[in-house]
Amino acid sequence: MKRVFSGIQPTGEPHLGNYLGALRWWVDFQRRYDAFYCVVDLHALTIPGDPEELSKSTLTMATLLLACGLDPDRCTLFVQSHVHYHADLTWLLECTASMGELSRMTQFKDKAQKGGEESARVGLFAYPVLMAADILLYDADLVPVGDDQRQHLELTRNLAERWNARYGQTFTVPEAAIPPRGGGARVMDLQEPEHKMSKSAISDAGIVFLFDDPKSIERKVKRAVTDLDPPGPGAVRWDPAAKPGVSNLLELLAAINGGSPEEVARGYEGYAKLKSDAADAVISLVRPLQERYRELAQDPGAVQAVLAAGARKAEEVAAMTYERARSAIGLLGS
Ligand code: TRP
Repeated sequence: MKRVFSGIQPTGEPHLGNYLGALRWWVDFQRRYDAFYCVVDLHALTIPGDPEELSKSTLTMATLLLACGLDPDRCTLFVQSHVHYHADLTWLLECTASMGELSRMTQFKDKAQKGGEESARVGLFAYPVLMAADILLYDADLVPVGDDQRQHLELTRNLAERWNARYGQTFTVPEAAIPPRGGGARVMDLQEPEHKMSKSAISDAGIVFLFDDPKSIERKVKRAVTDLDPPGPGAVRWDPAAKPGVSNLLELLAAINGGSPEEVARGYEGYAKLKSDAADAVISLVRPLQERYRELAQDPGAVQAVLAAGARKAEEVAAMTYERARSAIGLLGS
């Protein structure tokens, strides 16, 4: 069975884009693959944050993942820092990666520019190497990632190939797992439909958070930016270049209810009905998640137990890979 690995940062409130673009595929993949899923708390340290918040949000994220449908009997769910081999392998891979290739990572350039390059953390620079270690430790064949992580996955492949060529076959070279079309891989901001729904947006008005109550979801969806075309046949059509806002709502409906956005468009002539249907669809999608989250959150001990068992399973696999890498690169065994 092929193995899939993915990670999610615990920081920032998870939103509809995270769910439709990634998390629901995680749930789907656990039925088809040997799945390892990781809350990447070490990655969260690459930018400033509050220590107390970090441990809280790590538990919240794990609870949410279970609420979304990850099943500990079908996948291995764990916290990155619970398996020390992630940090260990990162060092070995840092001695495989070059300054030049890491300097070309667009996410680093963007983030470093925002906070000032001089004070950017070394960890932020090395971030993609830690991500490569995550993936390579588990011999993952497939990695579901969004567009923004493609470059990091490409780096992971390069590092694995370089290492294998230099030190002998050690790592599996992973590939991107791409959800089928209509997979909702790109949910756009409701206020700025040219941009992906993202935690880094300036305002929350265009982001539906998974913990939003039905009233605010309704408000946000109904205030979604569309355009000024008059109602009538053809006003509601899937045309991301000319009608990004309308197309986004169609994508949302298609992603939630099935079908293609073009098919969904056929049912509408005006924006009001489109918006109220989209709002209803989103609300019925998140309601059961929220209920399940509330139940699970009442017993944080049980969630911690799932994470502890996950870390034990993950560690078994990671230990074997690390041992291969250690010996290949010539470190003396203990
Ligand atoms: N960098 C990823 C993100 O921000 C999270 C991540 C960390 C990840 N390690 C990973 C994703 C390994 C896939 C595989 O989205």
